[in-house]
Amino acid sequence: MNTLRLQLRFLLPLAGALLLAAALSQPLIDRLALGWFSRDLTLRGTLVADALSESIERALQREPNAGDPLRQLFDRTVRDERLVALGLCGPDGRLLQASAAYPRELGCAQARALGDTSSPQWRLPSGTVHVGWRPVGAADGGTGAALVLLHDLSFVERRSRDTQWLLVGVIAALGVVIALITMIVAQLSWRGWVQGARALLRGEGLAGLIGAASRPAPELAPLARELRARLRDLEDEYRRSLVAQDAPWTPERLRSLLRQQLHGEEVIVVSNREPYIHDRVGDSLVVRRPASGLVTALEPVMRACSGTWVAHGSGTGDRESADRDGRVAVPPDDPRYTLRRVWLTEEEEQGYYFGFANEGMWPLCHVAHVRPVFRESDWQAYRKVNARFADAIVREARSEDPVVLLQDYHFALVPALLRARLPRATIITFWHIPWPNPESFGICPWRREILQGLLGSSILGFHTRYHCKNFIETVDRYLEARIEHEHSSINYRGTETLIESYPISIAWPSEAERATWSPVEDCRRRVRERLGAPADRRLLVGVDRFDYIKGIVERIHAVERLLEKYPQWVGRVTLLQIAAPSRSSLEEYRGFQDRIANMVEHVNARFGRPGYRPVELLAEHHEPHAVNEAYRAADACVVTSLHDGMNLVAKEFVAARDDEQGVLVLSRFAGAARELNEALVVNPYHVEETAEALHRALGMPAAEQRERMASLRAVVREHNVYRWAARMLGDAARWRLRERIEARVERHRLEAEA
Ligand code: G6P
Repeated sequence: MNTLRLQLRFLLPLAGALLLAAALSQPLIDRLALGWFSRDLTLRGTLVADALSESIERALQREPNAGDPLRQLFDRTVRDERLVALGLCGPDGRLLQASAAYPRELGCAQARALGDTSSPQWRLPSGTVHVGWRPVGAADGGTGAALVLLHDLSFVERRSRDTQWLLVGVIAALGVVIALITMIVAQLSWRGWVQGARALLRGEGLAGLIGAASRPAPELAPLARELRARLRDLEDEYRRSLVAQDAPWTPERLRSLLRQQLHGEEVIVVSNREPYIHDRVGDSLVVRRPASGLVTALEPVMRACSGTWVAHGSGTGDRESADRDGRVAVPPDDPRYTLRRVWLTEEEEQGYYFGFANEGMWPLCHVAHVRPVFRESDWQAYRKVNARFADAIVREARSEDPVVLLQDYHFALVPALLRARLPRATIITFWHIPWPNPESFGICPWRREILQGLLGSSILGFHTRYHCKNFIETVDRYLEARIEHEHSSINYRGTETLIESYPISIAWPSEAERATWSPVEDCRRRVRERLGAPADRRLLVGVDRFDYIKGIVERIHAVERLLEKYPQWVGRVTLLQIAAPSRSSLEEYRGFQDRIANMVEHVNARFGRPGYRPVELLAEHHEPHAVNEAYRAADACVVTSLHDGMNLVAKEFVAARDDEQGVLVLSRFAGAARELNEALVVNPYHVEETAEALHRALGMPAAEQRERMASLRAVVREHNVYRWAARMLGDAARWRLRERIEARVERHRLEAEA
């Protein structure tokens, strides 16, 4: 194929050149042919004039204005097929006689002038004629009359055309012959060169090409050098790419991974919570960013990868801001990907989201002393909504093998549903919350269905190895599956699932984003002013969804104990607790919010005084810039989750502190504690320990803060969310490659058997 293309590249210009040559030679041929034939006709005219000369002289001597006899003579003469007309001009320049077809507009003077030129032509309506001027009589003067002979020239054009066709034919034939010879020679030498290059690449050296006895062909030496140099370049490139693996992951690098390893295959992200919520407020539509670690992490990934994000449309203005199919381009101010909203009825949302997902799975997986509730009706709603999402994903897929990134405990059944409908899809399910031990998970009445659903995934990801281990043990306990501990994979009913840990993270803030931040001093001043606190008031900051797993009760207890044990902090430190209301229609959550409000009142009553409240509770949604301001204003950020998959607040705080100041107090039960070793790690159930950590944080010297913070920042910068996505997508790419190879091997096996 390559050889053919190579030859065409040569032959086409050759054919073009030959045709061009034929076209350009045409005017030359015309001019030459005209010259030759003009000379012939001049000669012929002389002969005709000589032959007629005597008769004309006689006629003129008899009757100077000779009439009929001459006319008859002329008419007889022009029967010659080439001679078009004859005329006789007198000595005075008058036309004395002419044959019938003689053009009267051609006067004697004009005919004489033309006859003297080298190209004596006259154009008649019937075609071009050659004009000859021949004096009649002896050379010594004679009668003084002259004959005008008009010869047909159209046969010259005919002949010239014939010559042209002949010429083109000959050139084309010549071209074909040259091309054939070239092709044969090229084929022979191409084979020789390819064999030569292959031998070189096999390391057989130049001698190998031409037999051991002969000397290497000298013309192959430059090629050998070139090939070796190219191979060295490729080797270097490969090494560089290996080294580059250690370079930080960026949106660009993630995009290029998608292009190179997944060949730009489309990515469909699926989550319950949507990244942008449109709410109707009076006459206008307001866009809100939800308080969700999942959304915080995935949104930058989607901006980098484009594609489609399928999610529940939960905003009061969602329908009017989307098209008929529920699609809307987001981010609203700079669209990068498509948000495809799935609509649910209130009843469906109640059963699937509030009921099964948040009253059942959430407490089941967090083991945070809140009893899971499992209702049959919630389970039915969960099944129905999972099927609805699977439908939406299939509709959004533009190929048979999309890469689908399913998020969280809302969609445990979707992987298997999708696997049945898109068997070639790469399904990556990421479980953002912890996975409990088999005994705890065994509480769920539909444990087998949940596990079977998840094992439709190609890859099932958790934040930590510990959660992977719990999952594998759970499958071992409740399903008949083949588990390969060495590869951390599970084969269930012919589908193989890789169980792997991928600690999630945040997008490291870009230069441009950091440029919009106010200086730390301004943030401190503004936040204190809002709280009515003096400039020297120390600030502890907590940022959470209002959720019982976040350890807010334990945090307030720790602050109370701090003030009790170290009274020097009374009046000098405040806990600013931002708590975004969440899942408030659930009794458990409403009760929790009331309990926190009461606790805050209690501590403030105990240690507060006019102008001082030890705990400030801001129980409302804060947009990202306001949260960032609080992080930058804080002396310490307190994360005391009782159990948390990762907890991105810890990482956001670290990313916000470009002044390398501030202390992170972090629960050991949050996944983040595995990576953020320089935080003050606490057991939030141990109030005393947490109070001590707060005391230590408030008294930590600036140098130690800097040391710890710089190290934390390096970890988060490197282990950012693009790395999280890249590791999963990279594994997915390897997974796809393996499946393709297996399919090919299977095909060969079947062919061999057939
Ligand atoms: C956790 C879950 C997410 C969820 C988020 C907010 O981070 O893992 O799936 O989106 O909480 O909760 P919500 O119920 O408001 O979406």
